[in-house]
Amino acid sequence: MSGDVTLFVNASQVVTCNGPPRARRGGEMREARVLDGAAVAIEGDRIAAVGSAGELERQFPRAACVDCARGVLTPGLVDSHTHAIFGRPRADEHEMRAAGLGYMEIAARGGGIHASVRDLRARGEDELVALARGRLMRLASYGTTTVEVKSGYGLSVEDELKMLRAIARLAAELPMRIVPTWLGAHEIPKEARASAATRAAHLRLLTEEMLPRVATGKLAAFADVFCEPGVFTVPETRAILTASRAHGLELKLHADELEPSGGAELAAELGAVSADHLAAISPAGIAALAHAGTVATLLPGTMLFLGKGTRPPARALIDGGAAVALATDFNPGTSPTVNLPLILTLGVSELRMSAAEAIVAATVNGAAALALADRTGQIAPGFSADLALFEIEDFRELPYWYGDRRCRGTWARGKPCHPLNLGLS
Ligand code: NIG
Ligand code: FE
Repeated sequence: MSGDVTLFVNASQVVTCNGPPRARRGGEMREARVLDGAAVAIEGDRIAAVGSAGELERQFPRAACVDCARGVLTPGLVDSHTHAIFGRPRADEHEMRAAGLGYMEIAARGGGIHASVRDLRARGEDELVALARGRLMRLASYGTTTVEVKSGYGLSVEDELKMLRAIARLAAELPMRIVPTWLGAHEIPKEARASAATRAAHLRLLTEEMLPRVATGKLAAFADVFCEPGVFTVPETRAILTASRAHGLELKLHADELEPSGGAELAAELGAVSADHLAAISPAGIAALAHAGTVATLLPGTMLFLGKGTRPPARALIDGGAAVALATDFNPGTSPTVNLPLILTLGVSELRMSAAEAIVAATVNGAAALALADRTGQIAPGFSADLALFEIEDFRELPYWYGDRRCRGTWARGKPCHPLNLGLS
């Protein structure tokens, strides 16, 4: 470890989430490990020490200081599920749903994911990078320092690769940590829906052409599939994910979002790193995730924005012993929000989580949902210097001031990544 030392002093609380480098399950999620009046030292891209300001000033006499102004310092938030590469917003569909049309009805009329696919195919890589850059900076401005970004609006080999190259360029350019996921199986393209034969040919295209190019180009860490009635079936999802694993990718699933279909059970069976959505998970699915290593990633903003009454059963999952993460699902159709603290509000108000559980869900468990729990998600010596500073005095105010932007600074791998720190807003 080498590099300049910076001390973060004068915080009213430091939420460390420190503990083993793995997901917190069940009752463990209640332990956010909050220290009153502690200071944090970072050296280069790592956390060097957590202790009293006096101790750390003696240990690092030449360190620079960041005055936390009695705010709360947390691990940089981890948004483990986004679709942040897209073209135009779909505000038209928001109104159509208000007028009574369902998400799948809109998709059947050529809207939904299909609309974003048509739009994205017409745009160049540079344009996609420029659009996503601003959106990712907005995510960072709310406290996020690690973000997963999926492909899935290209659906053809060249358009999916274009999306993944855009993600790679942003990962190289921006200070935040960006984790790329191949979601070539986000929807069956219109052209492949004509017959059973065209559908089968499309599945072969995914596993025999697209996947090898993604893997050879090292363009994704994860593979994901939208496993849902009307989209990919459980056997199709199993085939795509099994092939993805053989190419060295870790696994995720969009599972049981709108209807229970055995997606959570499949995630557990395959040992997926996460199963995401789960608003319609069955009791058998809850039991499967309670006993599997798979993180249950809940996206309550999606159900809110779709105007649905159902919510993912966070209490049943946590009380059953599962590991729960919270994420935005930032995307143009079902969850156009960059505000992860707002999702924590929904975690407390609608999913009945405690503030500590919600924060653990968006830090250490978000990191576990990206197989990164050994390096981010907690403030402890040796972990990546990923921090977020909020203008609040008590950590429970993070979900409390709902919709507000209380974040005053974020640092990823020791580098400022908040627009305010960077002099951008
Ligand atoms: O996670 N469910 C599938 N995919 C996205 C929605 C994408 C879209 O509507 O553009 C989701 O909700
Ligand atoms: Fe999603």
